Amino acid sequence: MGKKIVILNGSPRANGNTKGLIDAFMQGAQEKGHEVVCFDLGRLNIHGCLGCFGGGKDRLSPCVQKDDMLKIYPEYMAADVVVLASPMYYWGISGQLKCAFDRLFAVAECDENYENPKKDCILLMASEGDGIDNSKPVLDYYQALLAHLNWKNLGYIIAGGVLKIGDIKGHKALKDAFNLGKNL
Ligand SMILES: Cc1cc2nc3c(=O)[nH]c(=O)nc-3n(C[C@H](O)[C@H](O)[C@H](O)COP(=O)(O)O)c2cc1C
Repeated sequence: MGKKIVILNGSPRANGNTKGLIDAFMQGAQEKGHEVVCFDLGRLNIHGCLGCFGGGKDRLSPCVQKDDMLKIYPEYMAADVVVLASPMYYWGISGQLKCAFDRLFAVAECDENYENPKKDCILLMASEGDGIDNSKPVLDYYQALLAHLNWKNLGYIIAGGVLKIGDIKGHKALKDAFNLGKNL
C-alpha cells in the first residue's frame, strides 16, 4: 500500500539545491505510488514556538498560535513518513525548518504523556562543505532527535560540495534521493 509522505522543506531558495534533492526523491516516491505533499516553509507564515505548554487542547488546531502551521498539522498527523529537507546552516538545519519542527510539539501535547505520534523519518540536506567532518554535527543531531522521538530513520542524504543554485545538477546524491524514494 502507498505511504503518505510529508516533506518539510526548510530551504528559502525556490530552485535551490535542497529543492533538487526533494524533486528527485519525490519522483522516485511517486513512481512507486506513494502520496507526497511538500511544504515550502519559507513561503509560509510560521512563528517560533512560545514554549507556553498551552497547546494540545484541540487535535485539529493543537497550537495556541494560529498561523500556517494549521495547514501542516493535519498532513503531519496522517503521515507515515516525515522528510526533513534543509540546507545546512551553521552545521544544523535551517531556522525555517527548526521553527516548524518545534511547533509540532503541540501535537505531542495532545497526549497526556507528551508522546509524539510514531513516524518514519528521512533527512535530505545540501551543504557547501563535503565529507564526514562537515556532516557529523547534523547527523549527531538527527540521530539524537529520532532517538528522543522514537522515530525510525529510513535514510539520510547529505549532498556536499554545493553552494550556489544549480550546483546540485548532476550530483550523485540526486540518484540516491530518487532511489530512496523509489525503494520506500
Ligand atoms: C546562513 C548560511 C549558513 C551556512 N552554513 C553552512 C555550514 O555550516 N556548512 C556548510 O557546509 N554549508 C553552509 N552553508 C551553505 C549552504 O548549505 C549551501 O549553499 C546549500 O547548497 C544551500 O542549499 P539551498 O540551495 O537549498 O538553499 C550555509 C549557507 C548559509 C546561507
